[in-house]
Amino acid sequence: MSEPHVAQRGPLAVTVEAGKEYWWCRCGLSQSQPFCDGSHRVGPFRPLRFRALRSETLYFCACKHTASPPLCDGSHKRL
Ligand code: FES
Repeated sequence: MSEPHVAQRGPLAVTVEAGKEYWWCRCGLSQSQPFCDGSHRVGPFRPLRFRALRSETLYFCACKHTASPPLCDGSHKRL
């Protein structure tokens, strides 16, 4: 598996908490999108750590093809 699985063709809105750490799923196999649940063990991908600078709603990439991980950059429109 060299390409990540497309979990969803569109971002997932998540309200994050300032100072809290999140692990964004890179492989697309997690059942807890957009975050890692350990399912990546079957392939080459590892999760990306993200620390929220402030409490706010962010749009996390769920297609796993963003060039600005972990956030959506609109890449799902080209898949
Ligand atoms: Fe996808 Fe961990 S489950 S990176």
